[in-house]
Amino acid sequence: MKVDVLLGLQWGDEGKGKIVDVLTPKYDIIARFQGGPNAGHTLEFEGIKHVLHTIPSGIFRENVINLVGNGVVIDPLILQEELKKLEPFNINYKERLLISKKAHLILPSHKLLDAASEQSKGKNKIGSTLKGIGPTYMDKTGRNGIRFGDIFSKNFKAKYNALVEKHKTMLERYPDFKYDLSEIEKEWMSAINNLKELKTVDSEHYINNAIKNGQKILAEGAQGTMLDVDFGTYPFVTSSNTVTAGTCTGLGVPPNKIGNVIGIFKAYCTRVGSGPFPTELKNKIGEKIRKEGFEFGATTGRARRCGWIDLPALKYAIMINGTSELSMMKADVLDNFESIRVCTHYIINGKKYDYFPYDISNIEATPIYENIKGWSCDTTKLSSFNDAPIELKSYVSYLEDKLGVPITIISVGPDREQTLNNKK
Ligand code: GDP
Ligand code: IMO
Ligand code: MG
Repeated sequence: MKVDVLLGLQWGDEGKGKIVDVLTPKYDIIARFQGGPNAGHTLEFEGIKHVLHTIPSGIFRENVINLVGNGVVIDPLILQEELKKLEPFNINYKERLLISKKAHLILPSHKLLDAASEQSKGKNKIGSTLKGIGPTYMDKTGRNGIRFGDIFSKNFKAKYNALVEKHKTMLERYPDFKYDLSEIEKEWMSAINNLKELKTVDSEHYINNAIKNGQKILAEGAQGTMLDVDFGTYPFVTSSNTVTAGTCTGLGVPPNKIGNVIGIFKAYCTRVGSGPFPTELKNKIGEKIRKEGFEFGATTGRARRCGWIDLPALKYAIMINGTSELSMMKADVLDNFESIRVCTHYIINGKKYDYFPYDISNIEATPIYENIKGWSCDTTKLSSFNDAPIELKSYVSYLEDKLGVPITIISVGPDREQTLNNKK
């Protein structure tokens, strides 16, 4: 059995959490492969909204194993909080949540380094979620990191102290940055102790055995392709590979065992944090999208920047990921727009481009748009795509034609139920 992958094709927050939850009944295992608590994945059903940061979005469905892979970075304090929030729902996470021993830990001092680095960058800051993601991945690749499996070792405290000493030396480079580690360190250690009750696994063996035994696996991405450390809008990116290849390194799935790749995108586009966003609308239309789409970060609460859909960026993401099917999210957010715009190209220095050139951060890219007629009606109560307004059906066909990949799911609201299948 091959492993399916679900990931974001834009700058994150496409609605991955919702669709993973919708698709979970088809799978035995849901596995996160990268990122950490910079992610905020929202699920909504039975009138309740849940936001997950570390735990895979399959946790609310019975009998499904949720695996946090080696490619993920874990903040014990945040994971502990997430587990507490699950308690009222009687979720047997001690049996159904598995943590890779090779997943790296985010220390309190990683978060300090993230904050100090951002503060020192001033206007050029990345707009990081300040969850310690960058510094933790730097210690991983720098071969200084501490892994989840280390918490059971006798010399864990010594390893921890050595790494914190290194971080303190690094923090000396930021004399204006004041901090106090003592209280947060105590809470962190207590969280580590509590998390010892979780099941840990050698996740690459676990996943490969599951593949061999014919179990159905869905790999859940975090962030989005345009935030990938190699292929995103560098340096305004996150610190991991958010693309399909991240499944291989973040879970130990062999490349020839990748199955369907489901790419998620919004019917428009958003970005949170700094960095290039050619189709951004810094006007009333952008504000209207933000208001109708409630575009505020699930992790930080920050207002998301909003704009029209960007086909060159989407085509690039589809190419890098080997995307085999698409889910279009938040179509309902455009219910009250008489007309919609789609960016098909950019003009850069007088030349037409249908792709993102190198280092788009330092160039002016003027988007060229096509106008599409809006559907101007309520789609949130639709129960079948057959009954969708003709203009929405045309928008979907238009995008399928331009992108060359079928759109199999159209989402018309945050609830599990507000999900339409587009059967051919
Ligand atoms: P993720 O990080 O990709 O899982 O996405 P987030 O949870 O950060 O952001 C998506 C937001 O849009 C959440 O508040 C969802 O509840 C909401 N959402 C998801 N799908 C839809 C949809 O089709 N329509 C509307 N209006 N909201 C949606
Ligand atoms: P989900 O999984 C949207 C953005 C941050 C910042 C940049 C680097 O919910 O889609 P980092 O904290 O990783 O150092 O931040 O990446 N970012 C996200 N934007 N959704 C996310 O995750 C994000 N995770 C990070 O805003 O611009
Ligand atoms: Mg999110």
